[in-house]
Amino acid sequence: MLRRQAPLIVAFVALLGLGSVVIGDTIRMQHPRVIERINLMRSSKLAMEILGAMASGREAFDRKRANQARRVLIRNTSKIPSKFRRNPYDPASRARQHIWTQWADFKRQSKSAQATAKGVSTRNVVTLRQTLPPMINACLSCHQTFRKRP
Ligand code: HEC
Repeated sequence: MLRRQAPLIVAFVALLGLGSVVIGDTIRMQHPRVIERINLMRSSKLAMEILGAMASGREAFDRKRANQARRVLIRNTSKIPSKFRRNPYDPASRARQHIWTQWADFKRQSKSAQATAKGVSTRNVVTLRQTLPPMINACLSCHQTFRKRP
């Protein structure tokens, strides 16, 4: 059962990066506020990649490292509303206008993503495998509504 979930986790974590460049690549955005929110998202992606690698068995489970990644996710999701509150013009941004016209919903999704991050269990690889998929869903669900497809 858990073994069957592993390829799924790898696939979903890969999906998060869809259309975005690899960490360390140049940021196409120009507005400093937009760059900040992109950096926040990239940092979350990195944390998800660490957890995904451990959950899928590509990397050995390391409880301390896993917990650090979990903490990054909790902190990052809590910062989403403040990093998105302003809406500066940047042609490279893929943020949809819905964010600002449906602000309450956007905030609700950030809060729910944070609650999900708290629910990620880094006790051992089995609990990580069980609790990572909802986190992947929380990321994808917000992107589906609030981020333009490439
Ligand atoms: C509440 C909404 C929301 C949540 C939750 C969310 N994101 Fe995002 N994310 C966005 C929006 C909006 C953008 C587009 C920002 C832009 O282009 O200006 C984005 C962009 C990104 C990008 C693209 C960065 C780039 O290089 O262009 C990555 C990667 C990303 N998010 C990863 C994640 C991960 C991983 C999670 C879950 C841990 C997550 N996001 C959770 C809204 C969200």
